[in-house]
Amino acid sequence: MAMAVLEILVYPDQRLKQKSKPVEVFNDSLLQFIAELEETMRAGPGGVGIAAPQVGRFERIIVVDVSCKPKIKNHGRLVMVNPEIFAKEGNVVGREGCMSVPDFTGNVARWDRIVVNALDEFGNQQAYVMEGYEARAVQHEMDHLDGLLFLDRLVSRRGNLFPRKVYKNLQVLIPGGHEKITTLSRSRKSKTN
Ligand code: NI
Repeated sequence: MAMAVLEILVYPDQRLKQKSKPVEVFNDSLLQFIAELEETMRAGPGGVGIAAPQVGRFERIIVVDVSCKPKIKNHGRLVMVNPEIFAKEGNVVGREGCMSVPDFTGNVARWDRIVVNALDEFGNQQAYVMEGYEARAVQHEMDHLDGLLFLDRLVSRRGNLFPRKVYKNLQVLIPGGHEKITTLSRSRKSKTN
């Protein structure tokens, strides 16, 4: 099947505020779209997540894969359709970035452990127990489905938004940028990678 890297909507594009609708039909066209969504996520270095509305398709679909990160508990490649957080606990602040906000990263508080119910790309019900970085990535991508960016969830308005200098040059090389989420331990300095 022909694959394409899709165009990413970039802040302040107002379409990023749109709420996405549940997927109701599971067919080849959906599989093709999910393959292209994943391809788009992987097109940037360190791409760990993407949501359908970021490419202008307002349906509740996310793809997350944090397995490229060393020593992080993960489920590998995850396609979540119509995801819902079923249970949650703990609270941790971490640094997040977003393909739709290529020039900044910011500190955001998220649930540390979650149980997510979702359909897979074939429409089968799944449940995932996850924590830490992977849980953060899923919560970030789920926010996109409700029209929210990490900018809407900064720990506070002052001192928690950072220009992304390190990636500026890469952004030139790779149009569309990439999703990047860096977990920040509360007691340590922020880490950029
Ligand atoms: Ni994002």
